[in-house]
Amino acid sequence: MNLLLRRAELAQTADAAAVVDLLDSYAGDPIGGGQPLGPEVRRRLPAALRDHPTAHVFLAFVDQAAVGVAVCFVGLSTFRAQPLLNIHDLAVLSGWRGRGIGRALLAAVEAHARQLGCCKLTLEVLDQNHRARGLYERFGFADVIVAGSPTRFLSKPLSGGSAGQPT
Ligand SMILES: CC(C)(COP(=O)(O)OP(=O)(O)OC[C@H]1O[C@@H](n2cnc3c(N)ncnc32)[C@H](O)[C@@H]1OP(=O)(O)O)[C@@H](O)C(=O)NCCC(=O)NCCS
Repeated sequence: MNLLLRRAELAQTADAAAVVDLLDSYAGDPIGGGQPLGPEVRRRLPAALRDHPTAHVFLAFVDQAAVGVAVCFVGLSTFRAQPLLNIHDLAVLSGWRGRGIGRALLAAVEAHARQLGCCKLTLEVLDQNHRARGLYERFGFADVIVAGSPTRFLSKPLSGGSAGQPT
């Protein structure tokens, strides 16, 4: 398999379209909520990512076709006073799963985070997403447990959507 991983050039139409299509496919997947992106979100997403000050987006290509995406944002660990990289979305097209592309995207993200001087990678994953959880655990991620109790990830929508919607 001729796999290539690189940063997405969001100012380039082809890369921007690939990111939108991959996220659309993920959103339409039952594990992503089963609701494809609306046309307005599809239209605004490339510029929203491009203009975001801490967005870092990676694409995976097989023979020049985009098959996977990782959307990350730099955050800050206040307890370490160092940047961290949050993996907000990781998705591989369904027909390409199980061939190491997700793992390769994670490795590219980790290498980039190290270059940025990040102290850790973070992400949220649904409890029932066994496939992703298995990959993450084997890659070195672990549940955050503070004072013997696992953390919970909460969300409160400020515009549209409903509480607890993914990504
Ligand atoms: C999660 C996801 C990104 C993983 O990508 P992928 O390319 O399939 O992952 P990989 O092929 O690199 O590896 C997946 C691991 O699962 C294993 N695996 C492969 N097929 C599997 C299957 N059908 N069921 C369970 N595990 C499987 C592989 O052996 C591999 O394990 P390893 O790293 O120990 O070798 C992909 O399944 C996906 O896009 N899912 C939908 C979106 C999603 O859930 N994203 C994560 C949100 S937090």
